[in-house]
Amino acid sequence: MQKSVYIKTYGCQMNVYDSARMADVLAPRGYRQADGPEDADLVILNTCHIREKAAEKVYSELGRLKRIKQARRAAGKEATIAVAGCVAQAEGAEIRRRAPMVDLVFGPQTYHRLPELLAEARRAGSAIDQEFEADEKFDFLPEESACQGPAAFLTVQEGCDKFCTFCVVPYTRGAEYSRPAAAVIAEARRMVSGGTREITLLGQNVNAYAGEAPGGFEGGNGAGFGAGGTWRLGRLIRELAEIDGLDRIRYTTSHPRDMDDELIAAHADVPALMPYLHLPVQSGSDRILAAMNRKHTAADYRRTVDRLRTVRPDIALSSDFIVGFPGETDADFAATLKLVTEVGYAQAYSFKYSARPGTPAATAENRVPEAAKAGRLAALQQLLDAQQAAFNHSCIGCTMPVLLDRPGRKPGQMVGRSPWMQAVHVTAPPERFGSIADVAIDRATANSLAGRLPAADSGPPRAYAEGVGAA
Ligand code: SAH
Ligand code: SF4
Ligand code: F3S
Repeated sequence: MQKSVYIKTYGCQMNVYDSARMADVLAPRGYRQADGPEDADLVILNTCHIREKAAEKVYSELGRLKRIKQARRAAGKEATIAVAGCVAQAEGAEIRRRAPMVDLVFGPQTYHRLPELLAEARRAGSAIDQEFEADEKFDFLPEESACQGPAAFLTVQEGCDKFCTFCVVPYTRGAEYSRPAAAVIAEARRMVSGGTREITLLGQNVNAYAGEAPGGFEGGNGAGFGAGGTWRLGRLIRELAEIDGLDRIRYTTSHPRDMDDELIAAHADVPALMPYLHLPVQSGSDRILAAMNRKHTAADYRRTVDRLRTVRPDIALSSDFIVGFPGETDADFAATLKLVTEVGYAQAYSFKYSARPGTPAATAENRVPEAAKAGRLAALQQLLDAQQAAFNHSCIGCTMPVLLDRPGRKPGQMVGRSPWMQAVHVTAPPERFGSIADVAIDRATANSLAGRLPAADSGPPRAYAEGVGAA
């Protein structure tokens, strides 16, 4: 029977990938995707626990869903509500207490069992959750996957063993796990045959990837390179770059400690590896970095950046920053501003420290007052915004390859990604969707570029597989 599901995603790209896979798990059971929660038999909130605000959003959304559920039930329609992801993992009991109308709560490693979980929840008439490891999930997810479009995510690694003192991820996502290389390559091939041109390899610590190497025998996975051992991310990227039709590779998020020689070398000589790297540093103060348990100093980070820029001079960098970590002084914050000035970022995210229950830093006594946090955040963002605007303006007059992966807001407009992750707006005929076009950049704003296709660019578009974007 036809049913419908509406999945709302919060948090990181890993959740975006997981939501797509949840849809894949449900599709063979007759679930099509609904446009909104009002039209859905099943609503799934795929949640994020990283900062207090992210977690609280879930409870306010559940308040809205309660009314929708009541209205649907009054009209004799089904309305099952599920909470998935990192809030579900971290505070399942709290969800049930604060929102008893939730039918099902399940963590990030359980969703391959969604149909059974739904059936159990219906039978039991109450919420349940289950704990699993990431390796089980990947073993049981369906091979069939709706194409995510020209630019897609592929999870290669999950979990974190780093235990930065501010962070919930090691608790919500569990220990580090890397998928076998052959499984990743097979999934990438399927994506490319469905029309994907750019793949972003995902992991909470993607550059800690250490996946089982493909076996030496022919046929098992079709890969057949060398036997045994482990591949690190650099090697995986090299092999993925051999896939015909995969034009662009990216990876996120990386830990500065795990930028090994092989990965840096891949930036030197794999043309498909895009010249952009999100490499979060969090702070420029060694004292704060130590208190955060980041396991690197500001100088270590600078050295890694220098090595990357030596092999790939045009590489654009991005980072995450936390201001107001417990004990952060004006001098510590000045060190962060200094590091930002020295490195120069094309883009970055910055956050006020948010105490997360269960993490070591949450019980620290030397908290930074809210007003100081706000002042520091504003100063940091002003500097980062200026760097981003300068980077974007430096592109005016260049012609760059842009993967046209989204329709624009205005008729006839399309939006794409530059190699350096900038959004590029361009007027282009619809058949160019999914292709890589050379765009002459003539305008820049604080966070995007605009340009035109060269007049001569009227050649036939590269074919884009049928059915893409239909899911
Ligand atoms: N694995 C990545 C980051 C994951 S979380 C890494 O190691 O860098 C994404 C970002 O959220 C972090 O980089 C950090 O800047 C921010 N963040 C995590 N916990 C936070 C907290 N308690 N308060 C504020 N920001 C936080
Ligand atoms: Fe969180 Fe640190 Fe792990 Fe990143 S490396 S996910 S910030 S604990
Ligand atoms: Fe949030 Fe979980 Fe990702 S806490 S940032 S959704 S790993």
